[in-house]
Amino acid sequence: MFETLQPAPADKIIALIGLYRADPRPGKIDLGVGVYKDRDGKTPVMRALREAEKRLLQGQDTKTYLGLPGDTGFNTAMVKLAFGPAADMTRIRAAQAPGGSGALRLVAELLKRTRSDATVWLSDPTWPNHPPVMRGAGLKVRDYPYFDAASGAVRFDDMLAALGTAEAGDIVLLHGCCHNPTGANLDAAQWAKVTDLVVERGLLPFVDIAYQGFGEGLDADAAGLRLLASKVPEMVVASSCSKNFAVYRDRVGAAMILARNSAEADVAMSQMLAAARAMYSMPPDHGAAAVRMVLEDDGLRADWEAELEEMRLRMLRLRVQFADALRRQSNSDRFDFIASHRGMFSRLGLTEAQVERLRAEYGVYMVGDSRINVAGLPEDGMDDLAKAVVSVLD
Ligand code: LMR
Repeated sequence: MFETLQPAPADKIIALIGLYRADPRPGKIDLGVGVYKDRDGKTPVMRALREAEKRLLQGQDTKTYLGLPGDTGFNTAMVKLAFGPAADMTRIRAAQAPGGSGALRLVAELLKRTRSDATVWLSDPTWPNHPPVMRGAGLKVRDYPYFDAASGAVRFDDMLAALGTAEAGDIVLLHGCCHNPTGANLDAAQWAKVTDLVVERGLLPFVDIAYQGFGEGLDADAAGLRLLASKVPEMVVASSCSKNFAVYRDRVGAAMILARNSAEADVAMSQMLAAARAMYSMPPDHGAAAVRMVLEDDGLRADWEAELEEMRLRMLRLRVQFADALRRQSNSDRFDFIASHRGMFSRLGLTEAQVERLRAEYGVYMVGDSRINVAGLPEDGMDDLAKAVVSVLD
């Protein structure tokens, strides 16, 4: 039977992990997969998480099933993190999911059950796993313009014009903060306009907030989501703890529903849990249990927030240093946008061939669309890296 299969094309981001590991060159630089790294290139277990895991190990006296929604305390804490402490819990429901991708798929399965012919509008460009996850649930996808590669800015008028043609009932997937792959984000006035548009046209906002805390701060990064929640009758959210709690491999995320009222929220939740049961039944516990402990314990939470802020500020510093180095080496302001972008990524605006040259000639790894993970920038080698980038330009 398997002889009928062709090899699946490699995922462009995940493939970089293997390519980088296999490269024997000592000076290689990893700007590929979106994983936070410290100055030494390490991705540490966060302090508060480490402590929570110790407490879990000592205190956990059973590993019996928790049930389809996973850890309900975790779910409530995640809702408050995203929607804010004043979240209207009568209208919101949440299910723990296996990572951000699991949360996206769970929400997509729910949407398929309620609006099987709806279209999900995705930003162009978007995270490469968005289209397969949506299509995997049987939903149609379309693009809305988002990024102007020449200026590094959001094509906001074009975005609004495209979304103005969406049918009532269509779904608009928005990056809550830290747009992946571009790093170009909506400002407050733009969020307000998008909110007005989705209300006027009867569109359903679907917010992917996988990088909360990596842009402007935990609350500021959720401002767009919270504005939407205050105005729209219904919305859906996928959140992830992979980045802001650094629990990548533990697979920790949450799928959230804001419904018009409590009764409809309950029905939607029952459908989402039925979808979870059919896909994987129950989510893995460990990472979510540790995250819950951090979020519920004042001391651990304060330490987590402090460490997250250190990570965010470090990425901001690296952005400025790299933009400065590129300005020096290229004698131009072509790359200044890197300093004003926010989050883990920016796109340099290089061709695939230039990206390939950087890998082959300098051992510099980035995604083929020239997306860089700013946390991987070498603090002590900015000018060398900038020189390499400039050397492959036309
Ligand atoms: C990324 O964009 O690099 C991360 O979200 C990792 C992934 O799964 O693609």
